Amino acid sequence: MEFEKDILCIGAGYVGGPTMAVMADQCPQYRVTVVDINEEKIRAWNSGDLPIFEPGLDEVVGRVRGRNLFFSTDIASGIRQADIIFVSVNTPTKTFGRGAGRAADLQYWEKTARQILENSLSDKIIVEKSTLPVRTAAAMERILTSTSGKARFDVVSNPEFLAEGSAIQDLMNPDRVLVGSRETPEGLRARKEIVKIYSNWVPEDRILESNIWSSELSKLAANAFLAQRVSSINSISALCEKTGAAVDEVALAIGMDSRIGPRFLKASVGFGGSCFKKDILNLVYICESFGLDEVARYWESVLRMNEWQEERFVQSIVGNMFNTVAGKRIALFGFAFKANTGDTRESPAIYVAKGLLDEHAHVVITDPKALENARADLAGVEGDVTFEEDPYEAAKGAHALAVVTEWDLYRTLDYERIIRDMTSPAFLFDGRNILDHERLHWLGFNVFAVGNAPLRHYE
Ligand code: UDX
Ligand code: UDX
Repeated sequence: MEFEKDILCIGAGYVGGPTMAVMADQCPQYRVTVVDINEEKIRAWNSGDLPIFEPGLDEVVGRVRGRNLFFSTDIASGIRQADIIFVSVNTPTKTFGRGAGRAADLQYWEKTARQILENSLSDKIIVEKSTLPVRTAAAMERILTSTSGKARFDVVSNPEFLAEGSAIQDLMNPDRVLVGSRETPEGLRARKEIVKIYSNWVPEDRILESNIWSSELSKLAANAFLAQRVSSINSISALCEKTGAAVDEVALAIGMDSRIGPRFLKASVGFGGSCFKKDILNLVYICESFGLDEVARYWESVLRMNEWQEERFVQSIVGNMFNTVAGKRIALFGFAFKANTGDTRESPAIYVAKGLLDEHAHVVITDPKALENARADLAGVEGDVTFEEDPYEAAKGAHALAVVTEWDLYRTLDYERIIRDMTSPAFLFDGRNILDHERLHWLGFNVFAVGNAPLRHYE
């Protein structure tokens, strides 16, 4: 079959894989190829056991793989064939040199740009999908025009706003799609080409066009605003615990103000995920490099609040269990950074597990999708830690349960059965506020939930 266009995506991760699967599904007239340097990952994408868990992803990939969606490790020939190249390689926080711990590490991006340059024989549009510091497009352009090669390149910014756990929904029905480019005739032409792809399934009024710097900055700003809301409600949760206010009631009351809105007001043990921390650090670094220290400090405080919230959760466990958890069995319900994903990057669970292991607790971790990642995250960490598929087994003999991820599964467990097999007095720490605390208290638990007054059986 002849395809209308050849689309390539470099980077088959949480962003590249689902995004391209949905694009291929919605645009059967295009051939979509996803390449990655990681052979094992590509093998998994080509198998019945995909490398990431995402609701609905198996079905979409099953429909389109081999039809107009292909996964490969042959990056060079992928580049040669492509008209449009999306780049979604990772941009982790730099761990060395200038800007270590804050700036984005752009080495993979630069390497990819050089690879594109070396292998291109015809003109191409290069699309920034990865979250990048503002003005990366300028650096890209410099690399891509560094030799007087045969091909010309136009760089377009098209940040991805999908959230894990709802990626397929977010991609099929996005709040908006943002496409930024240079405002030259060539830049505007390239922009239109990308807009055309999305207009196959996204309504016109949800496709925004902008200059390229606005597009790059909007992605960082959106993540910073979302994270800020979580830190704001978490700061209020601390005050609720002291005053007898209930944080979900406060969230409901403020969220019904249409100027504030109800979403992203769920108090928690802290936010995790691959983006929020990395992108805020990146924003802070950029502000500092432009001498905007007050702006940098403002956004940095969102991260400080998050770290404090994680710390507070561990302190609440240790403090309320009579200041010692040494030798006590504590079951962590959930390890993923949020429900409906197996991803554990920057998960608050990592901090909580390590904090409890430092206190010499026996930590038992259960999670329906993230145990493999949890094992990798805690490999080499000293202490008594075990991993258990079955939450009932995890809770057996435990002194305390701590809910770290808001999996629906934990709402419907038989807690009467669970408390029977626990060590008394039984403690419950709800870091996500998802359980029925009154009932659990009535069953005999001492309940400590984020943003709520404690429900104890002792003074
Ligand atoms: C990543 C970034 O974290 C995010 O900021 C950006 O918006 C999109 O890319 P994600 O897809 O979650 O998000 O990352 P990851 O799952 O690590 O996928 C990146 C993939 O790129 C990996 O599979 C990696 O093997 C691949 N890669 C990396 C290459 O193919 N070539 C490289 O040179 C480097
Ligand atoms: C985020 C952005 O939402 C998405 O637009 C962007 O493309 C990537 O970063 P993601 O990290 O996948 O997506 O998940 P998100 O739903 O934003 O949750 C991030 C963290 O905040 C999770 O740990 C979640 O549990 C936490 N959170 C979220 C809360 O604690 N309370 C809330 O009310 C919402």
